[in-house]
Amino acid sequence: MLTSEVAPLLEIRELGLEFSRFSGKARVLDGVSLSVCKGEKVGVVGETGCGKSLTMKAVMGLLPTRRTTVTGGEILYKGQNLLGMNLSARRRITGKEVVMVFQDPNGSLNPVFTIGEQMEDILGWSSREPARRSLRFGLPKAVAAEARRRAAGVLAQVGLADPERILNSYPFQLSGGMRQRVLIAMALANQPELLIADEPGTALDVTTQAQILRLLDDLVRARGIAILMITHNLGVVRQVTDRVYVMYAGTVVETAPTERLFADPLHPYTQGLLASVPRLVGGGLSEGIDGSVPDYLSPLPGCRFAPRCARATERCHQEKPVPRVAGEAHLVACHLVK
Ligand SMILES: Nc1ncnc2c1ncn2[C@@H]1O[C@H](COP(=O)(O)OP(=O)(O)OP(=O)(O)O)[C@@H](O)[C@H]1O
Ligand SMILES: [Mg+2]
Repeated sequence: MLTSEVAPLLEIRELGLEFSRFSGKARVLDGVSLSVCKGEKVGVVGETGCGKSLTMKAVMGLLPTRRTTVTGGEILYKGQNLLGMNLSARRRITGKEVVMVFQDPNGSLNPVFTIGEQMEDILGWSSREPARRSLRFGLPKAVAAEARRRAAGVLAQVGLADPERILNSYPFQLSGGMRQRVLIAMALANQPELLIADEPGTALDVTTQAQILRLLDDLVRARGIAILMITHNLGVVRQVTDRVYVMYAGTVVETAPTERLFADPLHPYTQGLLASVPRLVGGGLSEGIDGSVPDYLSPLPGCRFAPRCARATERCHQEKPVPRVAGEAHLVACHLVK
């Protein structure tokens, strides 16, 4: 499914974001555009610090507010700009229709409540009309019991064998993989339309991480949920996603349908990224890309990748490249691509 055929569910347009630091303003997102259609599976890749998580946090309204300024752009969900909404309107979307699973399963659960209590909270309160939510009296028993029954159901769906035991456990009594599954169950419990997965499972061992990513794939496929998946695992991106965005230093440098991107990467950064995957067959260490992500405090006027690009010309250092069409649903921001 390609963007041109269907109206996007989520569309980020030219998002710009700045952090205030002692030493000045860091322009960490510089015109990021990205879209996801209903039921589509979209990957976001790019090296550490390039702004993947910040982009997703901006969608969820989870930016560290006082030091962060949105300098431009829009985040449209079903055509409505989330950035212009008041908090309560926004909360009806993020956390319900758009949910996020984070990288670290340990930091996202409350250590002092059992899994059952936390899930009853999420499921029970979200099923109540706002006018009938009284924190003072808590959830009525019948509502809590129904929420617990549903919680056991979703835990079983994420492959946890003994839901009752899990519901009675505190987070520390579960393994990292189990906690990550619990978080996925919580995210999917309220039937979202879009799941944002920010490197789920990276805190876990490689086998468990791959299992988690495949589980996510199965779950969203079965329910027709769209997924925006950030991961460093290019193997998973290739297997799971329909389309990929490649980010570099707060910009999107290339986007294409997954197969096309792997077959014909055009941006020098994408080429370097794909070449840096260690190969089991053919041997030897991967090539990698020299250097590191540039300083956001004094970004260069031209292409942000130019200082690391072996083929950069004078123009690359002076003039910012705009994305141009390189094929169907394939866009690339590079002066060298004709
Ligand atoms: N709270 C913050 N205060 C100041 N700078 C921040 C903050 N959060 C992120 N940054 C900066 O913004 C840039 C982008 O960060 P972000 O977390 O989005 O990277 P990322 O692409 O998700 O990287 P990773 O792959 O390591 O998760 C980084 O340079 C980071 O230093
Ligand atoms: Mg991140």
